[in-house]
Amino acid sequence: MPDTRPILFFDSGVGGLSVLAPTRALLPQAPLVYVADSAGFPYGTKTEAEIAGRVPALLGRLAERYDPRLIVIACNTASTIALAEVRKALDLPIVGTVPAIKPAAELSRTRVIGVLGTDATVRQPYVDDLAARFASDCTVLRHGSAELVDLAEGALRGSPPPAERLRAVLAGLFDQPGGERLDLIVNACTHFPLLEAELAAAAPHPVRFVDGGPGIARRVAYLTQGQDWPESPGPGRAVFTARDSDTGRLAPALARFGLTEIDSL
Ligand code: DGL
Repeated sequence: MPDTRPILFFDSGVGGLSVLAPTRALLPQAPLVYVADSAGFPYGTKTEAEIAGRVPALLGRLAERYDPRLIVIACNTASTIALAEVRKALDLPIVGTVPAIKPAAELSRTRVIGVLGTDATVRQPYVDDLAARFASDCTVLRHGSAELVDLAEGALRGSPPPAERLRAVLAGLFDQPGGERLDLIVNACTHFPLLEAELAAAAPHPVRFVDGGPGIARRVAYLTQGQDWPESPGPGRAVFTARDSDTGRLAPALARFGLTEIDSL
């Protein structure tokens, strides 16, 4: 019997698709379930206690329902707050998504990097720790934006983000002291790589962007090495935790990521 257990990706909304895409490219035979906690969206404006109270329990239910071989928490906010708790609660490999400060520090020439995430992510001690361990010789500017999360959700529903709103969000980084030397931005929210081309065009000077997606794909491939896969992965499934999640407008974008079956929990 082939092992048909899927890889389960989890985010508050559609952001985790930016993590699913490189994993799907590396492991085209993997069955995929993508879960958007639309009933809990957005995470970035919630408290640590709210996220820690919600995510491990919800992932427990999802693990029972979908029997995944591995879970990717494709959300920086949930990972920087609740990864340890989820790992304690579930007997499954759990891959988290945390700000890609290490690769950014390796690539930056000017030694000024920006971390663009949600408000909840940019204030986490987890981020202080990454900056201290991997970017101690860099100035690390941080900015949290809930608006950019909404703009990414809108973009996947067919509404392009207005350039002046993107410029205003980016000003939160570039207008800080040292911002004129910024050469690298860490997309520390999985929603933001979905708008990378538009963000690059809106930046006041050329910058590069990095995110955790490609590294996570390599990690998932490593952790599933030697495992059995079905001959064909079958249609990918997108699951929303709220019944009213505007899935009609999302369906074309979900299909571009191979997710052609849409359910609510
Ligand atoms: N995509 C999520 C992240 O990576 C959070 C978006 C939100 O719900 O605020 O942090």
